[in-house]
Amino acid sequence: MTDTLTRGAANQAGAHVNPNAAAEAQDFLPLKGIDHVEFWVGNAKQAAAYYRALWGFTPVAYAGLETGVRDRASYVLVQNDIRFVFTAPLTPDGELAEHVRQHGDGVHDIAFAVDDVASAWEETTKRGARSALEPTDYAGQKGTLRRSAIHTYGEVIHSFIDRSDYHGTFAPGYHKIKTPAAAATGQSLLEVDHCVGNVALGDMNRFVDFYKDVLGFSQLIHYDDKVIHTEYSALMSKVMQNGNGRIKFPINEPAAGKKKSQIQEFLDWYLDEGTQHIALRTEDIVGTVRALKARGVEFLGMPHAYYQSLPERVGDVGVPMQTLEELGIEADRDEEGYLLQIFTKPVQDRPTFFFEIIERHGSRGFGVGNFKALFEAIEIEQAKRGNL
Ligand code: FE2
Repeated sequence: MTDTLTRGAANQAGAHVNPNAAAEAQDFLPLKGIDHVEFWVGNAKQAAAYYRALWGFTPVAYAGLETGVRDRASYVLVQNDIRFVFTAPLTPDGELAEHVRQHGDGVHDIAFAVDDVASAWEETTKRGARSALEPTDYAGQKGTLRRSAIHTYGEVIHSFIDRSDYHGTFAPGYHKIKTPAAAATGQSLLEVDHCVGNVALGDMNRFVDFYKDVLGFSQLIHYDDKVIHTEYSALMSKVMQNGNGRIKFPINEPAAGKKKSQIQEFLDWYLDEGTQHIALRTEDIVGTVRALKARGVEFLGMPHAYYQSLPERVGDVGVPMQTLEELGIEADRDEEGYLLQIFTKPVQDRPTFFFEIIERHGSRGFGVGNFKALFEAIEIEQAKRGNL
């Protein structure tokens, strides 16, 4: 490989790991973590009910007509360190209604927690980021929340949020939900592990450079299309991470194959580049998946043949193979350890955004050993949709 960032040991053919990624990241943009993810959806009230009843999130704050907001309704839901906001338009005009009309439901903002929103905005815009919001103070009874924002791929933005002088539940203008309806129990989703962006053919390296040059990230892994392919379709992926390693953004682009890449299916139905999936970390994937399935969350199934060859490939992963197969959980191992993971079907009607649930035991990878079987499972779904 000519790419200097892929000089690290290759743990499997076609997967190039950079062990020095964190050290190489630039510190002009210290990001503390992901503050929240905001989804723009057609019906925020029902989205909030779905994530409460099926996924066990707790609604904590609301903004809408009753709080003096006339053009949109937003619900803030939390589970451990995960904070999601679902926002829907109340009127047919404006960017929010247009976004939903074009794309259906999808990720609008992957927001970072920072200490200094002005510095974050200045450092990134002077390196070429397109501003989405100049540094702004939002004052309320519970203090001041500071925010700025830049654009990334598609219509997705990254907000920078400083809540050090704000003591309310989410942001000025939102009312705390004082007696939230009880969230479902049994699952334990802890934090956002990684967020994956799908970009158009030929755009992957442009956004790899964007995260490197503009946000100071470094490249952790490169998967080429020799490893990420099935008989029919292929994709390429590079994983970018920030300096403290808490934020990991794989960037995918479709590659040529005999049939349509799942990345192309996303692009065809989202009508833009966008966030493909968010992985949520758990320390109890078996209990969590069992609870989510019982409440109706739909997961991709894996064929029996996958589990027949699994023990040889991954060894002991602390869960009986029979349990993994019963629930459809996948396993992978690299030189650092192993991971367990599972993917949902799309969580809205368009075949676009979905979730992953991941339990890590040492491995910092993304399940490269599962890519082929996983993509074959996705192709079965694509074929049902007439999109392969
Ligand atoms: Fe993932």
